[in-house]
Amino acid sequence: MAIERTLSIIKPDAVAKNVIGKIYSRFETNGLKIVAAQMRQLSQAEAEGFYAVHRERPFFADLVKFMTSGPVMIQVLEGEGAILKNRELMGATDPKKAAPGSIRADFAESIDANAVHGSDAPETAAVEIAYFFPALSIHSR
Ligand code: PPS
Repeated sequence: MAIERTLSIIKPDAVAKNVIGKIYSRFETNGLKIVAAQMRQLSQAEAEGFYAVHRERPFFADLVKFMTSGPVMIQVLEGEGAILKNRELMGATDPKKAAPGSIRADFAESIDANAVHGSDAPETAAVEIAYFFPALSIHSR
């Protein structure tokens, strides 16, 4: 399987719960390397831009409000099949439907506050990584 990169965000609810390290540990024990990282308080414009694809969805305003409610931890993960592997580790969007042992099953409260984001395809991963990280700030190992 090819080495891929994917964008991961630990959302404000999980940062507030102090579980960044526990989530990082799941990435690392499952073969994903953290090759870039930054903690940020997103502005409204940054969150709206990141989620622009969801602009017409009924939850868009609430999603932007939530994502700007506190700091987020943003990272680029690298590894074999990283995009799908990260989605599997995250679990389903709705924590009630997330597989037992997944990040969302263990750390998320609701579909609105669901602990983590992960790119869903190679094209979106490339766009999302470039949104937050200049190429020279990513350090493959
Ligand atoms: S969906 O519903 O399957 O299209 O969801 P998805 O494309 O995976 O992601 C939608 C993102 O919006 C966040 N969000 C919600 N989704 C669905 N319903 C509600 N009410 C809702 N509120 C927020 C959801 O967490 C996804 O965010 P990311 O950061 O992409 O995981």
